[in-house]
Amino acid sequence: MTSPTTLEMRRAEAQMGGGAARLAAQHAKGKHTARERLAALLDPDSFDEIGMFVTHRATGFGVENEHPPGDGVIIGTGKIEDRPVCVFAQDFTVLGGSVGEAHGRKIARVMDIALQNGVPLIGLNDSGGARIQEGVDALAAYGDIFYHNVQASGVIPQISVILGPCAGGAVYSPAITDFVFMVEELAHMFITGPDVIRAVTHEEVDFETLGGAGVHAGRSGVAHFTAADEEAVFAQVRWLLTFLPANNLAPPPHLPANDDPRRATPELAAIVPADPQQPYDVRAVIEALVDSGELLEVQPAFAQNLVVGFARLDGHPVGVIANQPAVLAGVLDIDAGDKGARFIRFCDAFHIPLLTLVDTPGFLPGADQEHAGIIRHGAKLIYAYAEATVPKVTLILRKAYGGAYIVMGSKHLAGDVNLAWPAAEIAVMGPESAVNVVFRKDLAAATDPDAARTDLIRRYREELAMPFVAAARGYVDDVIAPDESRARLIAALGFLRDKRQRTPKRKHGNIPL
Ligand code: HXC
Repeated sequence: MTSPTTLEMRRAEAQMGGGAARLAAQHAKGKHTARERLAALLDPDSFDEIGMFVTHRATGFGVENEHPPGDGVIIGTGKIEDRPVCVFAQDFTVLGGSVGEAHGRKIARVMDIALQNGVPLIGLNDSGGARIQEGVDALAAYGDIFYHNVQASGVIPQISVILGPCAGGAVYSPAITDFVFMVEELAHMFITGPDVIRAVTHEEVDFETLGGAGVHAGRSGVAHFTAADEEAVFAQVRWLLTFLPANNLAPPPHLPANDDPRRATPELAAIVPADPQQPYDVRAVIEALVDSGELLEVQPAFAQNLVVGFARLDGHPVGVIANQPAVLAGVLDIDAGDKGARFIRFCDAFHIPLLTLVDTPGFLPGADQEHAGIIRHGAKLIYAYAEATVPKVTLILRKAYGGAYIVMGSKHLAGDVNLAWPAAEIAVMGPESAVNVVFRKDLAAATDPDAARTDLIRRYREELAMPFVAAARGYVDDVIAPDESRARLIAALGFLRDKRQRTPKRKHGNIPL
């Protein structure tokens, strides 16, 4: 038997991360190791590691006594569905995956490679945060990562997968990236942990309640996707990537169509109740329209009154934005403004056309919403739609009232193709409110106020709110039957595929934040 070479020994040492005991401890927590995670995420045998032998040069607090190869993060290139990606995976078994100078440099390096070669960056986060022994060098490393995140924003898709602790300022790198995935129970994100909170505010809160996957998916809106385990989260990442181009100069990936582009959609008429007060699940509408009914919903648990997600029409990716009448009647509120605007801006940055489905009674009334800034947050949606130069196709299913009509991809914000179903109602407000405002005195004086109100509401619907009024002005390009919707949307997006729109020269706009 020949003795192992220095190279083999060094490679073997790197494979062992923080050593057998720490690898076992990682498994005991229900977590996989960084190398196992990369193997699960990437196509088989596609990973090429960079910087396996990098070590830190820090001294003090005992850190000078150990120089684990790789310094707690594995970086490199690989493939997903045969498309190149760049990855980093923090290794919690090495100094708790903490970020020091060398660790941070490695992450920044792989970000540079991703940016220069125009491929998505996927970060697997599992870290105790800034490496305490490295002091300001650790902070500098984080700052460098944040700077790289911002430089890459809108140029390559950036995806963060949280697979363990992500604490302190460390959360801001994922927050700047395009999509944050969290694994239930394993992942926690917070600026200050339970101990600090107890000391400062005397609040008692545990890790899960403070920053678990559930709270970030449902309440804070920090997480875009959650999964029950690591295997499921990697499947989600791989699915998301099927919709995304490699970079801002590449077209979104077209897959061979698996559904008839001319398929009639008669079921839509039954899904959407004729009575505008009746709720329904708009996801059923989306599923009827798009290829094979497949929708990858983004932030499904946050601002559920607005559904956003990726789907395909005739094999081409689209970003879908739809009011959800099943939740709060589909009103727009602060969280919906944030959710919709961020999604629209992502799609616009990466040439993914926008399909907007409208059925909303307007913005949510209330002092809470006003005081928390619905003016500022609602304005984000207007800004994002008006700023977007990708193809914008809008279909009004039912209600499109007031400011929400304008906001939701209207012709006035440069919608390219605006369609409406015959039962759509487009007006300043709903019939009941409108009649009460305009005919209050007449109704009070009427001999039969109920009959008079019913008649006025009917006339309002037929004379003012019906979509042919908007169509007569050219604000709606066509009124279409529900069963021809899929074919018409595909035709519109097909025509718009090579759309080019120039915008005024400027450094950048100033979206209300
Ligand atoms: C150096 C660290 C570390 C850190 C953990 N370790 N965090 N080493 N710097 N920040 C080491 C531990 O010493 C230990 O080493 C190993 O990693 C595993 O840690 P454990 O505590 O045993 O693991 P666990 O019980 O799972 O707890 C994980 C943890 C906890 C919750 C993350 O380690 C923790 O609270 N760490 C500190 C978190 C933190 O406050 N970080 C700073 C945040 S502020 P051994 O040798 O025993 O295996 C920040 C600022 C960023 O990050 C600013 C950017 C602008």
